[in-house]
Amino acid sequence: MTSPSPACVEGATVLAQERLTEDVYRLTVATTTGGTPGQFYMVRSWDREPLLARPISIHKMNEDTVSFLYQVCGRGTELLARLEEGGEVTLTGPLGHGFRIGELRGRIAIVTGGIGIAPTFCLACMLPVRDVTVIAGFESTPYAVAELLTLGVDVRVATEDGSDGTRGFCTEIFDPPAFDTVVTCGPMPMMARVAQLCAGAGVPCQASLEARMACGIGACLVCPCPTVQGNQRVCADGPVFDAAEVIWHA
Ligand SMILES: Cc1cc2nc3c(=O)[nH]c(=O)nc-3n(C[C@H](O)[C@H](O)[C@H](O)COP(=O)(O)OP(=O)(O)OC[C@H]3O[C@@H](n4cnc5c(N)ncnc54)[C@H](O)[C@@H]3O)c2cc1C
Ligand code: FES
Repeated sequence: MTSPSPACVEGATVLAQERLTEDVYRLTVATTTGGTPGQFYMVRSWDREPLLARPISIHKMNEDTVSFLYQVCGRGTELLARLEEGGEVTLTGPLGHGFRIGELRGRIAIVTGGIGIAPTFCLACMLPVRDVTVIAGFESTPYAVAELLTLGVDVRVATEDGSDGTRGFCTEIFDPPAFDTVVTCGPMPMMARVAQLCAGAGVPCQASLEARMACGIGACLVCPCPTVQGNQRVCADGPVFDAAEVIWHA
């Protein structure tokens, strides 16, 4: 499948940088490049080091802005967290193939782990919210949940330390037969479990995969995902795949 060429926006202005928890931030940038839920941008706010831009999903968007929800976990995201209003970033995107929204029907579950909640807001905005249940897992303090509640989405939270919602993993409060279609985004072991539960219940599931990336546009082949059709590139063939086609424990 081909996609229109992604835009490269140098010097996109930072409109807002919000700190949501100790290590989770929301960055809003002025750009008209938009995208669809599940697509991502290669983002950088530095010159030479680190060498590569970092892939970050679209969290929110409108005609003039795109927001990113990100967790600081290394050098690149640390540098993003230093940005202030009026600062500048370079964006390449939107990239990849997002969620196949037309296939999401009936009662829809969006099962997320940690920062995997990032694309949920813009996805929920495109769905009949009364049919959507978000089942979100966090290690501790939840984030990005309030806006989903404002939309009218049913949100169920699990935290590993029991500080909010049900104590444990989100997969423990996910009951696949209660849903007609499922979307999942989060750590690979969590998504593998969601895929397994969905397969057992015969419920279709779309999974947004993670991989280390370099080019982000399908050229360097550093982001393979083993599938029943052979290796696919997470950046260009995904990041969203049919969970039943992914070989989770290759
Ligand atoms: C399609 C896609 C969408 C993404 N969307 C988001 C998002 O919306 N918000 C967000 O916070 N993060 C997102 N990520 C992950 C994000 O790209 C990485 O956290 C980021 O690149 C880390 O860069 P860094 O320089 O801060 O850390 P690094 O120093 O590069 O890495 C820090 C640690 O994180 C691990 N790591 C880094 N990248 C990945 C990865 N892709 N998969 C698994 N482990 C990794 C490294 O092994 C290392 O242990 C996404 C990744 C992909 C592929
Ligand atoms: S990051 Fe280069 S092919 Fe995927």
